[in-house]
Amino acid sequence: MTQGAQQGIDLTARLLLDKGDGVIVEGPTYIGGLAAFDAYEPTYYEVPIEEDGMDITKLQKALMQHQVKLIYTIPDFQNPTGTVMSVEKRQAMVQLANQYDVVILEDSPYRDLRYTGENLPTIKSFDTEGRVISLGSFSKILAPSLRLGWLTAAPELLAALTALKAAADVESSHLVAVAVDTFMNDNDLDAHIDAMKQVYQTKRDAMLNALERYMPKDVHFNHPDGGFFLWLTLPEGFDMQHFMTAELLPEYNVSLVPSHHLYASKSIENGARLNFTNVSEATIESGIKMLGQALNDALHPAQVNQI
Ligand SMILES: Cc1ncc(COP(=O)(O)O)c(C=O)c1O
Repeated sequence: MTQGAQQGIDLTARLLLDKGDGVIVEGPTYIGGLAAFDAYEPTYYEVPIEEDGMDITKLQKALMQHQVKLIYTIPDFQNPTGTVMSVEKRQAMVQLANQYDVVILEDSPYRDLRYTGENLPTIKSFDTEGRVISLGSFSKILAPSLRLGWLTAAPELLAALTALKAAADVESSHLVAVAVDTFMNDNDLDAHIDAMKQVYQTKRDAMLNALERYMPKDVHFNHPDGGFFLWLTLPEGFDMQHFMTAELLPEYNVSLVPSHHLYASKSIENGARLNFTNVSEATIESGIKMLGQALNDALHPAQVNQI
């Protein structure tokens, strides 16, 4: 048991990464993952995310060209894009990790939150050499403030990680673990997740519906099958960070996460993460309407002809 999936990321990084060591991350990726890795000053190799997960051709190229110790991936309803890695890519990633002797960190806190389609096997299920560390969490299915998650790994890695965990905080809180255990004995966690999924699916649909109606034609968005997030792509050259701080927040009181922060390379400015789970349907409708107006004004300012 860990203090959330976040501690699993930190412990893995602490075990495997010394200053300058190679780590492959998705572009874009989870901002808290980058924060955990940054502390160990690794060398990042950023592999783009496609509709069906990490670009495996570019992953192979990175592994061929560089010394890499760790691949960090979020295969299910990725934070921030909402994409899911295909089964073929999961298998290919394990094969590449075997070939290049790399550990995979499979971080999957949104895995149980699928609203449409079929669940795919974990990357860990294809692991033949004990090189996949996988992370789960109660944060997205029960409550984030519990700070309770779990880490699964082969015995040798697990022993090393357990020793690091003992050094960090001895053990996770028994009080919290017993509370979660009691909740699961007295209640049906699956039924709880099913109820949550219905709420989140309705909100996802509300956001997609609003995006269809209010986004300018040159703004693209994806249709995730689960999780918390979807991804907006603006025309090349658009600076989302500047747009948010200069216009969207002060003028419209709408916020999103600009892509800049979600790339290890900090090189992509024209994207954004939208969260559809944490506000009401009414707020989604009004927020997306205002975002659409603001983007339309920014992308297509009215032509004024002076006579
Ligand atoms: C991909 C990913 N990993 C890990 C975490 C951290 O989760 P926890 O609350 O279990 O530490 C988050 C939380 O947002 C996340 O999105």
